[in-house]
Amino acid sequence: MIARVVATNLKVLNSTLQPLSILALHGPNLNLLGQREPGIYGALTLAEINRLLEEEGFKIQAKVFSVQSNHEGILVDTIHAALGQHHGILINAGAYTHTSVALRDAIAAVNLPTVEVHLSNIYRREDFRHHSYIAPVAIGQISGFGAQSYLLGLQALVNHLRVKS
Ligand code: DQA
Repeated sequence: MIARVVATNLKVLNSTLQPLSILALHGPNLNLLGQREPGIYGALTLAEINRLLEEEGFKIQAKVFSVQSNHEGILVDTIHAALGQHHGILINAGAYTHTSVALRDAIAAVNLPTVEVHLSNIYRREDFRHHSYIAPVAIGQISGFGAQSYLLGLQALVNHLRVKS
């Protein structure tokens, strides 16, 4: 019993010390955050969100690398390149969430733990936003908390990786 507690504590200690590398991937139109429909997506720019992610990552010993693209193929290539580079993926695929089998397949192919995030609550919006191709290949999804969705998603992903290792 004591040995098991010690082993568990050691595991927690070891995993706490391991710096994690996280890819934060932003899809189409998210480069326009701050000026794009602020009533829906909020006033923060993508640079500001990335900065918050870096700061949150620093607190929980995770280095966050952010990439944004408006092009599906570039997003697919970036997911492929994450293999061996990053421990997990935090993704807001924007509109590709609702259309892209290619992004879904890329995430399944690299098999890296992935958390899906959305600024808006996609289930309170138009019907076409209710379906996500990403959700079935993600650990989980956080939707509707504005920029906070990203931070909650990062915490959830890092926590998942630490418990797993
Ligand atoms: C979004 C929701 C999508 O439906 C939309 O196409 C986006 C942003 C969000 O973060 O709320 O571009 O992913």
